[in-house]
Amino acid sequence: MGFFSSSTQTIPNSGEIPNHIAVIMDGNGRWARKRFLPRVAGHKRGVETVRALVKTCAKQDVKYLTLFAFSSENWRRPDDEVSFLMGLFMDALKREVAKLHENNIRLILIGDRSRFNTELVAQIEASEKLTAENTGLTLTIAANYGGRWDILQAANKMMLQHPKKVAQFAEEDLTPHLAMYYAPEPDLFIRTGGEKRVSNFLLWQLAYTEFYFTDTLWPDFDDEAFQTAIQSYQQRERRFGRTSEQLTHS
Ligand code: IPE
Ligand code: IPE
Ligand code: MG
Repeated sequence: MGFFSSSTQTIPNSGEIPNHIAVIMDGNGRWARKRFLPRVAGHKRGVETVRALVKTCAKQDVKYLTLFAFSSENWRRPDDEVSFLMGLFMDALKREVAKLHENNIRLILIGDRSRFNTELVAQIEASEKLTAENTGLTLTIAANYGGRWDILQAANKMMLQHPKKVAQFAEEDLTPHLAMYYAPEPDLFIRTGGEKRVSNFLLWQLAYTEFYFTDTLWPDFDDEAFQTAIQSYQQRERRFGRTSEQLTHS
């Protein structure tokens, strides 16, 4: 697994097509309510959007796609919605993993697995193992993930690794322990559903990411909507602290 530099330490390469896209898939409940359907119908439709987006990203040579599927705060939802989401996740894994593998896609789950039932953990582990050597798109699913949890679990591991070191830690000591150590930081962050917040997603890793917010609800986020997000990204000037003049002269 590769080691990637930090955007606050060195200037990363950024190309026409974002190397890493991170998405908060929001708006499933509202999509359903608009149609007088139960909220869970929106989650079900949302899976179709995931399937299409994965296909598009693989085709367009995006290297990393990271999807926020369930936050550490989503346990606060009604029990029946939480159970439905867990079941949906399980079914989607079972149903899709062979196809992901066929398409050379590597699947990785980030988040605290300790609250998942044993069957789901087993299914996750089997899916990761099957696709571990694949060299195409890396699809990361963030489930029971929280950005603060991630930073804290990394800090705890870092301190265990250097038991004698006190108050001398550098970024490079921490970053290998973050959940997404295997990927460069996201180039593009997309949030559907109209809210303009990060909701405890990748807090550390979004330091220099370009943000894109759209009112489109997740089940409606089709290829055209995705291409609009890419076009918006392509118009940005990523300065990483430098001046615009420095960019045009180099
Ligand atoms: C996002 O859609 C899916 C999850 C959080 C699992 P929501 O369920 O948050 O949909 P809205 O925001 O209520 O419309
Ligand atoms: C964020 O969506 C989490 C996921 C999409 C999985 P929420 O809909 O739960 O976010 P908040 O709580 O409204 O910010
Ligand atoms: Mg929401």
